[in-house]
Amino acid sequence: MILSLAPMEGITGHVFRRVHAECFGKLDRYYTPFLTPPHVGSAFGGRARKEIDPAHNEGLDVVPQLLTKNADEFVWAAQLLADMGYTEVNLNLGCPSGTVVAKGRGSGFLRTPDELEAFLQDICARSCLPVSVKTRIGVVDDSEYERILELYCRCPLKELIVHPRVQKDRYQGTPRWQAYGETLSRASFPVAYNGDIFGVDDMEALLKAYPETRHVMLGRGLLTNPALACMVKGGPAATVRELQQFHDKLFCAYEEEIGGNAVFRMKEWWFYAQFAFVDPLAVHRAVRKARKVGEYKDAVGRIFSFVPLAKVARFQG
Ligand SMILES: Cc1cc2nc3c(=O)[nH]c(=O)nc-3n(C[C@H](O)[C@H](O)[C@H](O)COP(=O)(O)O)c2cc1C
Repeated sequence: MILSLAPMEGITGHVFRRVHAECFGKLDRYYTPFLTPPHVGSAFGGRARKEIDPAHNEGLDVVPQLLTKNADEFVWAAQLLADMGYTEVNLNLGCPSGTVVAKGRGSGFLRTPDELEAFLQDICARSCLPVSVKTRIGVVDDSEYERILELYCRCPLKELIVHPRVQKDRYQGTPRWQAYGETLSRASFPVAYNGDIFGVDDMEALLKAYPETRHVMLGRGLLTNPALACMVKGGPAATVRELQQFHDKLFCAYEEEIGGNAVFRMKEWWFYAQFAFVDPLAVHRAVRKARKVGEYKDAVGRIFSFVPLAKVARFQG
C-alpha cells in the first residue's frame, strides 16, 4: 500500500515534509502544493523554486503539482522539473477556490470536458515526464463524473488520484466512494483514493469496501495526527512528547525559513492539531491570542503540559 501526503497549499510544503519525515518516518510519496508554471523560456521563481529545490527534498519521493490550463507552459515546466531530476508531474484538477475555478483551472477545468481532453492528450503526448492527475468528480453534481471518467480513460495517465467530491462541496459532506470504486473498475492506469481518511478505522473501512486499493493520499487526517501513516501500518499513536518534539522542530524550521516570527505559520498547523487534544477549543483559544514569539511559546508550553491528548486524534471538519 502506497501512502502519500496530500498537497496542501500553505501547509504541506517542503519544511513540513522534511520535519514530518524526520519525526514520524517518511511517507512513500509527497505531492507539492500547487505551483503555477513559469512562462515558456523562464525559470520557476520565488516560492515555487524553493518548493522544488532538490536540496529541500533530499531523500523524499516528491511529485511536483502544477495548476494551469496552458499546455505549452505545462510542457515547459515538465522539462524544467525533469532537468532537476523529478520523474513525474501532477496536474491539479481539484482546486475548488472561486478565483481558480473562475479562470477555468483546477476543478473549474472539469466544466469543459472537451477542452480538458484536448489539453490532457496534448500534454501527455508532449510532456517529457509522465503525467498524473488529482481530480474532483465534477463541479456541481456527481453525475458529471461519467463523462469526465470516460475522457480520463482515453488518456495515458501515470495515475489518477480521486477526491470524490464536486467543486461545490468544497470539503463538506461525505466523499462519494462509489465514484472511486467506479474509477478502480474502469481505469487502465493506477488509481489512488483521497478524502476524509482521518483514522485507522476509516482506512480499514475503505480497504474493506475496495480491497484493490493500492494508494491512499492522506491530508487533514495526518495534520491532526502526525502518526496516522505509522498507525495505518500498525505503529503506535504519538505520545505527547513526540508531538511536542515535532511541534518544536516545525516551529524552528519555519522560523529559519521565514527568517523571523513563524507564529502565523504555526497557527495554520494548529487549526488541525487542536483535534489531537481532549479540549480542542481550549487549545484553539490559547494559540489564537498569541502574537509574539514569547506569548506563543508560553501558550504552547501550557497546552503540552496541561491539556491531555485525545484518546484518538481525529480531524473534525
Ligand atoms: C488548506 C488546504 C490547501 C489545499 N491545497 C491543495 C493543493 O495545493 N493542491 C491540491 O491538489 N489539493 C489541495 N488541497 C486538497 C487536499 O490535497 C485534499 O484533497 C483534501 O484536503 C481532502 O483530503 P483529506 O480529507 O485527506 O484532507 C488543499 C486542501 C486544504 C484544506
